[in-house]
Amino acid sequence: DTDDQGNAAGLGLRLYDPGFQNTAVAHSKITYIDGEAGVLEYRGYDIAELAEKSTFLEVAYLLIYGDLPTPFQFRQFHDEVTHHTFLHLNMANLMRSFNYDAHPMGMFISGVAALSTFHPEANPALSGNDMYLENSQIRNKQIFRLLGKAPTVASYAYRHRIGRPYNQPRNDLSYTANFLYMMDRLSEDEYTPNPVLVRALDVLFILHADHELNCSTAAMRHIGSSHVDPYSAVAGASAALYGPLHGGANEAVLRMLEDIQSVENVPSFLEQVKTRKRKLMGFGHRVYKNYDPRARIIRKVAYEVFEVCGKEPLIEVAIALEQAALADDFFVSRKLYPNVDFYSGLIYKAMGFPTDFFPVLFAIPRVAGWLAHWKESCEETGGKIWRPRQVYTGEPHRPYVPLNHRG
Ligand code: ACO
Repeated sequence: DTDDQGNAAGLGLRLYDPGFQNTAVAHSKITYIDGEAGVLEYRGYDIAELAEKSTFLEVAYLLIYGDLPTPFQFRQFHDEVTHHTFLHLNMANLMRSFNYDAHPMGMFISGVAALSTFHPEANPALSGNDMYLENSQIRNKQIFRLLGKAPTVASYAYRHRIGRPYNQPRNDLSYTANFLYMMDRLSEDEYTPNPVLVRALDVLFILHADHELNCSTAAMRHIGSSHVDPYSAVAGASAALYGPLHGGANEAVLRMLEDIQSVENVPSFLEQVKTRKRKLMGFGHRVYKNYDPRARIIRKVAYEVFEVCGKEPLIEVAIALEQAALADDFFVSRKLYPNVDFYSGLIYKAMGFPTDFFPVLFAIPRVAGWLAHWKESCEETGGKIWRPRQVYTGEPHRPYVPLNHRG
């Protein structure tokens, strides 16, 4: 029996909220956003202050464990994470099996999913270790491992793509320096990552580490609510991130800027956006109805990177686009401002990363946020499997007609 809203009798009111525009599905102490005021805080710390003073690994600790680490806690955390940076030889073989032109994000998602098969202790069906119920030691081990291995999987995807041998992690380097080292080292002992670029990437990693219940983090919590192992859940969250409306936007922005080519073409491009033939990628946000505070910081980082790598000419197109859009009623009335990804691609391009690798550069730091939310949901008392309902709009009950009686 259903009422006229399609609600099953006895279940009470059911909210219809397509796209979860106004539905809170969890209590969380991790990230605070005030979209109207353009405020973003991790565990109470302002994002701008963290970007200026902290490091990515420290921020990962903060997000996951709730407070900034003491020097001892940080050392221990750093050692635990770096202890897990190496990949099994069969993981290297798996990465080798992809086509030479495979999208790096597809390789990353598959690589992370494959990690679940190498670590059955996290699989409740095989080990009996249900992460939701087990002691925090086993849970922590998976956290260290995922943080440690994500950059290595990413670097394998990149090295495979350019047809070069994989580089083994260097655990004496910082998290970000090691990542750059694994990506770019050309010979055994020569390559030392430029400290300005290491710092720039660290800031970008801090800015991308968490953003409360965005599409991929909601996916992480949703998949995790079935108590599956966290490698499978992170692979699912990465798949959600891959889409052009989410983490794939940084790649889409760069392709859009390349398409526009020069400042003179900005007005005609914006006309196409206003007539809905195109979308202005890197603009708009479900939560921010004011300038995305991360975009402000990223614009500054861009110029620091250009000092080292040379100016990326498309920055002029990006600035002209932003200025024109912010002076146009179409964008102003809809409160459309640049988001985190409007400028990040230009930095990645200047640093020499290929365009299709950009979403992977978003995924690596977001692993920290996904794990923070996963851990928080594991610790939630009475956490239930996520199971939204629908409003059924299909056929009413009808009898089956055998094939030879149809048509
Ligand atoms: N270009 C042109 N118009 C836009 C854009 C855009 N980038 N974003 C929103 N609009 C318009 C919509 O057409 C709509 O107009 P209408 O009311 O006249 O139909 C209005 O603004 C509201 O947009 P919605 O799509 O309803 O906003 P929603 O909250 O659902 O979507 C989203 C947010 C997906 C981010 C959207 O703004 C978008 O597609 N942006 C481009 C992709 C992008 O940059 N994504 C990265 C987001 S940040 C991140 O994931 C890290």
